[in-house]
Amino acid sequence: MAASASSKLPNIPQADLDSFAEHLQKSKRILAVLGAGLSASSGLPTFRGAGGLWRQHDATQLATPEAFEADPGLVWQFYSYRRHMALNVNPNPAHFALAELARKRDGFLTISQNVDGLSQRANHPRDKLHLLHGSLYDVRCTSFYCRHVETNNFTDPIVPALAIPTEDDAVATSAFQAREREHQQHGASTSINGGPRELDISDIDVALPDLPVDALPHCPKCHNGLLRPGVVWFGEMLPGATLDTINDWIEAGPIDLCMVIGTSSKVYPAAGYAMEARVKGARVAVINIDKGDEPGGGLMQGDWFFQGDAAVVVPEILKSVIGEIGQEGRMVGQSNI
Ligand code: OAD
Repeated sequence: MAASASSKLPNIPQADLDSFAEHLQKSKRILAVLGAGLSASSGLPTFRGAGGLWRQHDATQLATPEAFEADPGLVWQFYSYRRHMALNVNPNPAHFALAELARKRDGFLTISQNVDGLSQRANHPRDKLHLLHGSLYDVRCTSFYCRHVETNNFTDPIVPALAIPTEDDAVATSAFQAREREHQQHGASTSINGGPRELDISDIDVALPDLPVDALPHCPKCHNGLLRPGVVWFGEMLPGATLDTINDWIEAGPIDLCMVIGTSSKVYPAAGYAMEARVKGARVAVINIDKGDEPGGGLMQGDWFFQGDAAVVVPEILKSVIGEIGQEGRMVGQSNI
């Protein structure tokens, strides 16, 4: 195997990095399909990885209209937790690198399955970022007669009843407390910023209150309907206008390159876009930590599989167009084209 072009990517052959860079530089229309692995190194769990369980629930089973109907309090606690977690982490160099590529290349379209708001916070140009599964920070009224939608609602907690409990709230079970005593004996810290420490409500040993529907977020417009998270749940239609824009873009001409980043490619239509791009002539590059996770249709000759952490791989492979990206997204070098 040839030496790596980059000390940051010791396991990727030089020839693959070179052929990708050469193709990227001449690519005019580029598609990226993003998944939860993009945000993994920011500290957010993926759906199907080790962090895919929330308490005893499979995260994908809480993301359904049926779960919300059966227990809106539980589903809001799950989403309030995810809003809080995502607000407390930062975009990583891959989010910044993709945002920079969007500024550098007019013909670059990004389709994201992520609802965490990190691409937006990395200043990814909004007209080039299409959110297939909605956003944690959009909320909408469930009343059939209202349907009010509020975008970019970053209030955390969205209502007081959904505040993350702290150790002062004494909702931890005895099993949790015993484990904490053990941690403390081993020198683990018990507070952040000197205040009471927030409890991790994804842990089944932290008790959750049963919230009455009255305590959940209600519509500021009709003052009656219950609000729900503005994400697409399993069994629901994807946003029609977003799908139309993506399809129009795909149909508009040949596509040179499709990057599939940090997704298990299990959920359609996202999993099928690489194949659609291929039909329009694209070569496909997969960036994933797990060699087994290829997009629908698999890989073909001329494609690339860059195995590794997206936060490291993406800025490296885009470097020939975007220059060096620092930790906070600052440009530390100049583009060479
Ligand atoms: P998954 O959890 O299914 O897959 C995450 C992918 O990221 C896996 O292929 C991992 O191998 C990969 N991965 C993990 N850490 C990585 C890292 N540091 N760098 C690169 N890759 C890494 O998440 P998605 O594919 O995004 O839908 O899931 C798709 C949809 O299923 C989600 O949008 C959500 C979920 O149910 C809805 O909620 C509608």
